[in-house]
Amino acid sequence: MEFLAADAFAPGQSPFQRGVFDGIIAHAVMDLVNLEAGLSTLITYVRPGGWLYLTLNFDGLTQFLPPLTPDLDAQIIALYHQSMDERRFHGLPTGGSTTGRALFVLGPALGLDLMAVGASDWVVSPRHGKYQPDEADFLRSILYFVEDSLSRQALISPTTLADWLAIRKEQIAHCELVFIAHQLDFLFRVPG
Ligand SMILES: C[S@@+](CC[C@H](N)C(=O)[O-])C[C@H]1O[C@@H](n2cnc3c(N)ncnc32)[C@H](O)[C@@H]1O
Repeated sequence: MEFLAADAFAPGQSPFQRGVFDGIIAHAVMDLVNLEAGLSTLITYVRPGGWLYLTLNFDGLTQFLPPLTPDLDAQIIALYHQSMDERRFHGLPTGGSTTGRALFVLGPALGLDLMAVGASDWVVSPRHGKYQPDEADFLRSILYFVEDSLSRQALISPTTLADWLAIRKEQIAHCELVFIAHQLDFLFRVPG
């Protein structure tokens, strides 16, 4: 195995030869790049008849339970998704919060054959009043992402956000918080 640290999507500076790979796994990647440019680039790296396994593509649903103030929950989730949609990569929009569903359209439009697709949702919930090992840390990381994304935007009062986060963190400490994020996995075949 060879490790290479490089920008796989740098315009005009490809680190890979055309058709060099039998297949590519891009796990939790496609929502970070411009979808059309990124997918077109990945296709060039795969040999004819090869495959692309694009996994963990976020698809528009985040849910925290139990509800606190429903309007505030909805506002925070909408702003969180908006922060994904405002992300830019090499000056272009990224796949953002609807990457999953966009790949259904874009893959075939770029000549890819859809071999398999399915959900890879995150569903974290206490069972018998406890989380599995690491789930509480995972949930704290998710809350950190929400905090980081919303603090950059300044579209919600810092106190309101801090209060909401404090209650959600308390729910983690008491093994009460449920978290759901909807994601999709795609296996595409590159025409041979
Ligand atoms: C959210 S992380 C997922 C990491 C890993 N696949 C995993 O699931 O633990 C996004 C990853 O996408 C890859 N990535 C993002 N932009 C990239 C770029 N321009 N060129 C190459 N890789 C990139 C990096 O490996 C980065 O760590």
